[in-house]
Amino acid sequence: MTQLDYIPEGYEQIKVVDNLFSFFKTDFEPKANIVLYPRRLTGNFDRLAVEMANFFDLKEGKLFIKYSECSKIQYFQKQVKDKDIYKAVDIILSDMECLYFARVKTHMRLVVNEYKKHHDVHEFHVDGLNQDFDRFIVCYNDPVTQFVRNDDVIMVSGNNVKVKDNAPTYQFASGDMWKARVRNKQRNSADDFLGKILRDKERRAFVHRALRSNLPRILVVGDKRLN
Ligand SMILES: [Fe+2]
Repeated sequence: MTQLDYIPEGYEQIKVVDNLFSFFKTDFEPKANIVLYPRRLTGNFDRLAVEMANFFDLKEGKLFIKYSECSKIQYFQKQVKDKDIYKAVDIILSDMECLYFARVKTHMRLVVNEYKKHHDVHEFHVDGLNQDFDRFIVCYNDPVTQFVRNDDVIMVSGNNVKVKDNAPTYQFASGDMWKARVRNKQRNSADDFLGKILRDKERRAFVHRALRSNLPRILVVGDKRLN
């Protein structure tokens, strides 16, 4: 397994893979909450995010474009003059296609000045409430998702978490593709009781946050529901 300098050393909650095939094939067991496929993309995604925000007239908030609406992205691409930006759009389209064919419900997300509206995602939290799914994410430009190690998680309750005061924070790199394990569907009360004693959530949940940014950001997000 590859060791990356931005991932805690010897950390069993993150599995790092080096190709797309392993990325889809690798599961989270026995201890992981993330499978990470590190990628270094070429292309000016900062500039792309700004141009897209202008094109779609997004000044604040989020724009979601589902895989089924990809023609909107292609329509945008047609008017792009800069080659690097054009290629960057190609990368996003092919990532969406790739996730779609892996049966992941996928959308592109453009985020502009979102921090003014949503404070919660900027605090450490866990995704999903009473749901089991795998969440796939690519952040194409900075700032990328930050996280803390599970050893530094004191408590998880619903989406809310408490982390140690001076817990070191880590951050994925732009272009990385990862999938996060979300398992918080309610089972029977005996399992829940056992889970609490064993501190299942604290040991296993992916605790993360988005950094505040004035610059538009582009992400691809996909969820694969489990029964
Ligand atoms: Fe989140």
